[in-house]
Amino acid sequence: MKIANVLIVGSGIAALQLARTLKEDLNVMVLTKSTTTNGNSHMAQGGVAAALGVKDHPNLHYLDTLEAGRNHNDSEAVKELTEEAPDIIEELLEAGCSFDFNENGHLKLGMEGAHSEKRIVHSGGDATGKAIVEFLVSQLGSHITVQENVFVYELIVNVEGQCIGVKGKLRGGKTEYYYADHVVLATGGCGQLYHFTSNAETVTGDGLALAYLAGAELVDMEFIQFHPTLLYVDGHTKGLISEAVRGEGARLVTEEGTFIMEDVHPLKDLAPRHIVSQTIYEYLKLGKPIYLDISKVENFTERFPTVSAICRESGVELASDRLPVAPGSHFLMGGVKTDRLGRTNIAGLYAIGEVACTGVHGANRLASNSLLEGLVYGKRLGNWLNAQSELKVIANDNKAMPFEGPASLTPAQKENLSLPDKHILQQTMMDRTGIVRHNGGLTMQKNWLESYRVEDWVETSLDDYSTEEMNSVFMLITSWLITNAALVRTESRGGHYRADFPMEDHANWFKNQIVYKRKIKK
Ligand code: SIN
Repeated sequence: MKIANVLIVGSGIAALQLARTLKEDLNVMVLTKSTTTNGNSHMAQGGVAAALGVKDHPNLHYLDTLEAGRNHNDSEAVKELTEEAPDIIEELLEAGCSFDFNENGHLKLGMEGAHSEKRIVHSGGDATGKAIVEFLVSQLGSHITVQENVFVYELIVNVEGQCIGVKGKLRGGKTEYYYADHVVLATGGCGQLYHFTSNAETVTGDGLALAYLAGAELVDMEFIQFHPTLLYVDGHTKGLISEAVRGEGARLVTEEGTFIMEDVHPLKDLAPRHIVSQTIYEYLKLGKPIYLDISKVENFTERFPTVSAICRESGVELASDRLPVAPGSHFLMGGVKTDRLGRTNIAGLYAIGEVACTGVHGANRLASNSLLEGLVYGKRLGNWLNAQSELKVIANDNKAMPFEGPASLTPAQKENLSLPDKHILQQTMMDRTGIVRHNGGLTMQKNWLESYRVEDWVETSLDDYSTEEMNSVFMLITSWLITNAALVRTESRGGHYRADFPMEDHANWFKNQIVYKRKIKK
């Protein structure tokens, strides 16, 4: 058994920013399923959005965020996020984090989709996530322990309904109990539920499933952002081509060189991501390949070293000036419902970063607002936890200890429960709960997922399962939540496009959220 004041599950930018903010007299533990350098944050190419330009203002950033989010956002949360953005960048700079500067000694500000001003701060050209993660790791004090390769598979909730810790499976298969005053989910999203994705292998919806199983509220699960431009070779996506490439002048073209975004949206190639992704998808469906024409981008390899390396590794010639692309899942706008500090409906349980739904992203996230969200909410929750006077280690309080987890199965019951093949799940999610959805496909997917008896898995103890099986259970549960929510929302908005309800429906759906909360059997 291990004990801590603050236990953070996940090790991306939100987790590390929180850990770094927590004061030194707290015992802080970070658990990560893999390593700190093996997640979405580390891979992030595009940067951090902040209104730092002379013509810019947080209010413009605020308006762009609401427009991209199709006004499904919590406007107060957006106001705070956009107002805090410039200070977050200044603080990181002062602390020694390196960002890219121009020849006049000012921060280089890039353009990305749906922004009305150049406001994207980046590092190493297109290696911003790596730079920030490495900087944050370098800032972790000795009161913080990072334990890698721990697969957290259950949140421990005591009889009073308070989250008091987690169960984690270690590499050799041993279960470890971690108790804490505060448990923070910072596990990222669920990109790997889809066949085409920009996300790291490890991003399989674990935190979402864990929260659901524990009785936390989840909202907006139907809103998945598909990034328009993943490198696409021989029917496989090979990694992200940052939107900043289009920000620097690249255009989407057909084989014949027709600009596909010309008459689709006033912002053309820099239209909101859902619009660009849906447009590319329609061409690909007809068997017409789409390319990113990079002939107008100056100094491509210096400005985009990460994208250049991905192209080289995949055998795509940069000299051809044409990069084949396809859209893939990139970001979940919904997640574990929190307030503007990161608190969930379960005492002692918090969520920050992509796993959380604070309401800042609405129905579709504005480019480069995700690293920003992680930095702002990591700091905000850290400051709030630091101010709590009554920090005690809960494990010393015997009354807090009793808890009842889910029941273990008998061998016969176990035999009756199976799990879907991961690749089939990813392909069917892409086809039926993907970029373009409709009642028929969604119903088929829901039925298919339920044929694996999701509701029985929800009631089952995972103690005796392997980490691969637990991963599959979490993918099943999270896919089921997304598919159900997508079926219920009978309109199109942002990242949720229903071919059978192609318009936004203000009368019935404006700001309405679909909430999932498991009824725990007593
Ligand atoms: C990108 O570089 O295009 C991705 C950045 C983001 O998702 O905000």
